[in-house]
Order: sequence, then structure tokens, then C-alpha cells
Amino acid sequence: MKKILILNGSSRPHAFTEALIDSFRQGAESKGNQVEVVHLREKRIHHCLGCLHGGKDYEHPCTQRDDMDEIYRLYRQSDVIVLATPLFFWSYSGLLKDALDRLWALAEQSVDELHGNNKSGLLLCAAGGSHPQPLIDHFDYLMKRMEWANLGHYVLCHTDDMDKRNIPEIAGARELGEKIAIP
Ligand SMILES: Cc1cc2nc3c(=O)[nH]c(=O)nc-3n(C[C@H](O)[C@H](O)[C@H](O)COP(=O)(O)O)c2cc1C
Repeated sequence: MKKILILNGSSRPHAFTEALIDSFRQGAESKGNQVEVVHLREKRIHHCLGCLHGGKDYEHPCTQRDDMDEIYRLYRQSDVIVLATPLFFWSYSGLLKDALDRLWALAEQSVDELHGNNKSGLLLCAAGGSHPQPLIDHFDYLMKRMEWANLGHYVLCHTDDMDKRNIPEIAGARELGEKIAIP
């Protein structure tokens, strides 16, 4: 059983990023994995201050006190981190990018909990159009730099031409969830 943390960077409830998450989650849970979803829009997460003074307090890795403390705790418990995001300006949403920036505090501790640490990463993306490649390239590079196993990505393109009130199950996202290995 793997513990999976999904960081949802979408501003819209019940839209396409969430549909990807639902399908992925069904696949992952059907194989016995444990999934936790954090809707970042519901959290109080400040922008990174760039102070580079984090890592001094295990309970509060960042110098700022907000809902990131909950995410640090969930991150520590998780084997797989799923970045779920709308494609905004061919990149991650600001909601997700803020949380990613704040994870840096984990690398500032005397024991680096960000790089390696037997983590794996996976990308789910809802794109209004058809050009997600810059985000995929960034994600692949991020996995290398974080030294996390890259479990792949699924991008749902052309969402701006779809009806948000009637989103069917997304087979590709479900299959990615089913593939999470259970040693
Ligand atoms: C600020 C903003 C920037 C966007 N930038 C892009 C983009 O660069 N490429 C693209 O294909 N779609 C873009 N879109 C469309 C979103 O990717 C699309 O609507 C997506 O489904 C939103 O995710 P959600 O359904 O979870 O809200 C953008 C939308 C917004 C609001």
C-alpha cells in the first residue's frame, strides 16, 4: 500500500482538475492505496518570502506559520506526491506554485527531507487548449532535481471546449492510479 498525497492547485471546485483527481483516486484506491487530497484553494498558504532561513524547527520547517504545516506533515507521511493543476500560462497554477515554493523549507533542515527520501511524483493537468508540453518538460526536470521517481503524467486537453457539468470518468487518469505499485 502506498500513501498518496494529491495537491490540488485548481481554483474551481468540481471542474476538470478535480475530475482528473477523482478518476486517478478511484484507480489508486481500487489497488489498495491510501489517498489524501488537499484542495489548496481552501488553505491559508502565504507566498514564499525567499528568506532562506527555514529548516530550524522540525514542527514548523518554514519561518511562516500557516496551513503549510499541515502539508509538511502529510508530505512526510506520503510515498507519492501528485501535483494536480490547471495549465495556467503553460505552467502550474499560482496556488500550486506557492505550495511548491514553500516545500523548499524541507531542504533547509539539517536532514534534507525534500530531495530523494524515497518519494515519487506524478502530474495531473487540465489544459484549456492543446499545448501542455512546457509544463510536462518542467515536471520531468523537477523530478530529476528532486530525485523523486517519475510516475508519469496525464493531461486532459481542450477542457475549454467541454461541459464542466458533465465530465465523464477519465480513463487515462484512472489507469495511472491503478499503476501505482504496491510492494
Ligand atoms: C489565468 C488562466 C491561464 C490559463 N492559461 C492557459 C494556458 O496557458 N494554456 C491552456 O491550454 N489553457 C489555459 N487556461 C485554461 C485552463 O487551463 C482550463 O480552463 C482548465 O480546465 C482550468 O482548470 P479547472 O477546470 O480545474 O478549473 C488558462 C486559464 C486561466 C484562468
